[in-house]
Amino acid sequence: MEILKEISERFSIRRYLNRDIDRSVIDRILEAGCIAPSAKNRQPWRFIVIQNQENKDQIMDAAYGEEFISQAGAIIAVCTTNVDYKMPNGQLSYPIDLTFAASYMVLQAQHEGLGSCIVTTYQEPVIREILTVPYSMKVVMLITIGYPDEDISVRNRTPVGSISSFEHW
Ligand SMILES: Cc1cc2nc3c(=O)[nH]c(=O)nc-3n(C[C@H](O)[C@H](O)[C@H](O)COP(=O)(O)O)c2cc1C
Repeated sequence: MEILKEISERFSIRRYLNRDIDRSVIDRILEAGCIAPSAKNRQPWRFIVIQNQENKDQIMDAAYGEEFISQAGAIIAVCTTNVDYKMPNGQLSYPIDLTFAASYMVLQAQHEGLGSCIVTTYQEPVIREILTVPYSMKVVMLITIGYPDEDISVRNRTPVGSISSFEHW
């Protein structure tokens, strides 16, 4: 079955080459996040790009010293601008909205020949302070991006037949 190339070739990459990412590439990744769908088109997001080595090192420290975080060419902190809005189904919209934006960005990164990894293992208040994020907002996830220095091809997933059904659970 044919699946979009970027989707089928994306893996979480945790080793990066020491190579800068062009500003135009970063801009296209941000643009991809910007055009993601969101509930009521509220776009409750702000994307902070971190490329300065000292700042990446600080983020790494707040992420329990995971080295690939400071090795990445860039880190994108995916932040909220609204934490209250609930959708008609009763669920908060921001985790879903920001996940769509992040998905679009990692797929655009893949398209640009970059690897990426979503990171949520960090001390959020510390990162908020480093990035001067307003008190009431949240850093929902980090995305590390960079030219890959590892080749992963094994996909560990529950088979589609076990996680899907038609008409009933
Ligand atoms: C919501 C979310 C949180 C994640 N948090 C982390 C994390 O903190 N550290 C990490 O190394 N990977 C993290 N990952 C990456 C997952 O471990 C990875 O997507 C999963 O093992 C599947 O592997 P794949 O991305 O290579 O297909 C996260 C992924 C998602 C979607």
